[in-house]
Amino acid sequence: MRRVLVTGGAGFIGSHVADAYLRRGDEVVVLDSLVHGRRENVPEGAEFVELDIRDSGTADLIREGRFDLISHHAAQMDVRVSVTDPRFDASVNVDGLLNVLHAAHLAGVGRVLFVSSGGVVYGEPEKRPTPETAPKLPESPYGVTKLAGEQYLYYYHKVHGMEYAALRYSNVFGPRQDPHGEAGVVAIFSTRLLSGEPFTIFGDGEQTRDYVYVGDVVAANLALSDADLPSARSLDDRGFNVGTGTETSVNELARTLMRAADEQVELHHAEPRPGELMHSSLDAGRLRSLGWAPRTSLEDGLRETYHWIRDNTNDKAASL
Ligand SMILES: NC(=O)c1ccc[n+]([C@@H]2O[C@H](COP(=O)([O-])OP(=O)(O)OC[C@H]3O[C@@H](n4cnc5c(N)ncnc54)[C@H](O)[C@@H]3O)[C@@H](O)[C@H]2O)c1
Repeated sequence: MRRVLVTGGAGFIGSHVADAYLRRGDEVVVLDSLVHGRRENVPEGAEFVELDIRDSGTADLIREGRFDLISHHAAQMDVRVSVTDPRFDASVNVDGLLNVLHAAHLAGVGRVLFVSSGGVVYGEPEKRPTPETAPKLPESPYGVTKLAGEQYLYYYHKVHGMEYAALRYSNVFGPRQDPHGEAGVVAIFSTRLLSGEPFTIFGDGEQTRDYVYVGDVVAANLALSDADLPSARSLDDRGFNVGTGTETSVNELARTLMRAADEQVELHHAEPRPGELMHSSLDAGRLRSLGWAPRTSLEDGLRETYHWIRDNTNDKAASL
């Protein structure tokens, strides 16, 4: 049994990761400010601490908590917020991260898993599926702070011997995505499908993303919690893409979701959103070489997500 701290563990992905550590017999502490997360997402059996990652209380908890592993999922993760308020984005994603990391270093925590984003650190990459070694040219303050996070971890590894891995997620979808927040298109479309409202597609709908199911993302976290990783000589030695390598257009996503849910609505097109990346997909070959592979098809994952949102949305007429 190990002691694991999951920051952001009341949120969408972090709560699934906390579930998985509990299932394999670890002792789990979830830390979350509940700014977006929900108390009911925190799995039964986990200890819950309501704290901001920027607070001194967070550093105290880590210094005294005897953690073997920290899974850092808490973040400011809205690209648009990062554009309008880059200092706020940096306060959470850089200052908050450093509060966690420095305390982890002082406490001698065994390993830190940091959640980065393969959807933003490469910018608009030339090569797709994009390998970890592609140039890192983020086009938003959120992308800049995720990349800076990886660089801080590399520093703590190189100079202080901290064990770490950075998981560069593609577009994650699944149960517990919040259809009322800044969630991804899957949650928004599912909610619209439930209320019979048309989908709004920005631009021609041919922009593509790499959609990976949350259960597969959890498996990547477990694999990297235990993997024997060689000492890093570059950022990319400890960066792991987590994606399927398959590109799906928004039009195709809409059609697949309607098929999975066995419901139909109209598609409306709106003006393209300025600054939106056109294409993204990740080459997860490095993670596959550790035995990981995505197991859930897009259609099966969409069905699970739709059913979860249907069963957990009280106000089914709510529109976004
Ligand atoms: N959802 C995706 O497709 C995706 C893609 C790439 C990377 N990521 C990363 O995965 C992580 C989890 O994202 P998610 O989709 O589960 O989002 P989420 O909003 O559901 O989870 C983030 C959690 O962090 C908490 N949090 C935010 N600021 C905090 C703070 N200052 N102190 C303490 N807690 C705070 C929130 O309350 C929330 O529970 C984030 O680091 C995000 O950047 C997500």
